[in-house]
Amino acid sequence: MIVDLVLHNAKAYIKGEILECSIAIEEGKYIKIGKQPQMPNADQKIDLHGLLVLPGLIDEHVHLRDEEKTYKEDFISGTSSAAAGGFTTVLDMPNNQPITNSVKTFKNRLEIAKRRTLVNIGLYSEFPENLTTLTKISYEGAIGFKLFMGNQIGGLNIDDDQALKNGFKAAGEANTVVAIHAEDKNQITLNEHQFKKNKRNGVKDYLLAHTEQTEVQAIERAIRTSEGSNACLHFCHITSKQGLETIKEAKKAGKNVTCEATPNHLLLTSADTARLGMIAIIAPPLRAKLHQDALLKGVIQGDIDTIGSDHAPHTIEEKTVDSVWDVKVGTPGLETTLPLMLTLVKKKIVTFQKLVEVFAEKPAEIYSLTNKGKLEKGKDADLTIIDYKRHWTIAASKFKSKAKFSPYNNWEVIGKPVKTFVNGILIMDENEIVANPGSGRIIQKTTQ
Ligand code: DOR
Ligand code: ZN
Ligand code: ZN
Repeated sequence: MIVDLVLHNAKAYIKGEILECSIAIEEGKYIKIGKQPQMPNADQKIDLHGLLVLPGLIDEHVHLRDEEKTYKEDFISGTSSAAAGGFTTVLDMPNNQPITNSVKTFKNRLEIAKRRTLVNIGLYSEFPENLTTLTKISYEGAIGFKLFMGNQIGGLNIDDDQALKNGFKAAGEANTVVAIHAEDKNQITLNEHQFKKNKRNGVKDYLLAHTEQTEVQAIERAIRTSEGSNACLHFCHITSKQGLETIKEAKKAGKNVTCEATPNHLLLTSADTARLGMIAIIAPPLRAKLHQDALLKGVIQGDIDTIGSDHAPHTIEEKTVDSVWDVKVGTPGLETTLPLMLTLVKKKIVTFQKLVEVFAEKPAEIYSLTNKGKLEKGKDADLTIIDYKRHWTIAASKFKSKAKFSPYNNWEVIGKPVKTFVNGILIMDENEIVANPGSGRIIQKTTQ
């Protein structure tokens, strides 16, 4: 038998252990994992010289823009950024231009993504106004539905509890995940209004307007209004101790609830805002150290299920404005997330096991990506290959993303993704993109 590819001298993460082995790949799937002499012949052989091999990592929270926002990012630049950052699958958010929340906008976005993507990609939809359309979009393969509670983006009236209830009920019936941006719009609007009236428009004022209570209120409201529905709630970018406590209680009560943290909220605090200025303005914002500590503990203890980059590219002009109320919120993260987390592994703050759990196993489970998340015979041959000893310095000017700024510019990190394979195809090699746009696959949720 001759297979497509065999990788030799791998240190691969398999069932909780790091094992020295070879990996055979045929037609985009693992066909054999074992000792070198047991490997079949192959068209291509690559010696990995002891590099670490992880199951392809999944970033379940990215904003890849494209369509009418290609000036910020497009699928080619965004998924090049993903491949360079060690992600083989990304799940893309729907706050686009046009907003992805109809069968037409969803199918159109899927067509564009298919031709341009370098990694596997699943698309979220926003809620449509008419909930019968939700079933149709879900049928087209939406990976989940996004609910922005901090500002009105989709078709669900977020000021109306009954509308939220209906939305959760419909999502439950369609057996789809609802990814939630939990901030209370009304409270934030009131706070912002006060600050603007008093001509307070600095970075600190933004943090004071987006208090942690606004997050807790929104989490409580989402849990309350989803009561009795079958919806799976996935809370994005949790930032507060109390928010996390609320989610822990819901989990304990048997509710179908999971949550995500971003490296921003795990590694930066509100104290960094003055130093970093507008580029560190993200939603929800950075918090005080006590929250950061609680989140890190939440990751270590398994209360936080996933880590997502919340890659949110903007132009540098959009990030360098005078008033904080005019700044576009968000920061790119695809090329920094994994190295930052690898550095925490090196510092023995988190384990490799945890890394694989939050970036592969849990996202695969939450989003029903049944062929992903594990290095196992028969699964998709998505691989993230890491030089875990490499010391290097983050340089935002070299990002593949169009957004060439970062709160982590010039940070010293340890550990670098050096190769990314997607369905058995080498996409990124030593920071070079070596495959063509369209090499990645579209992931459509299979509707039962
Ligand atoms: O920081 C953020 N950026 N938070 C959001 O909710 C939206 C995102 C974006 O799309 O830029
Ligand atoms: Zn968000
Ligand atoms: Zn986001």
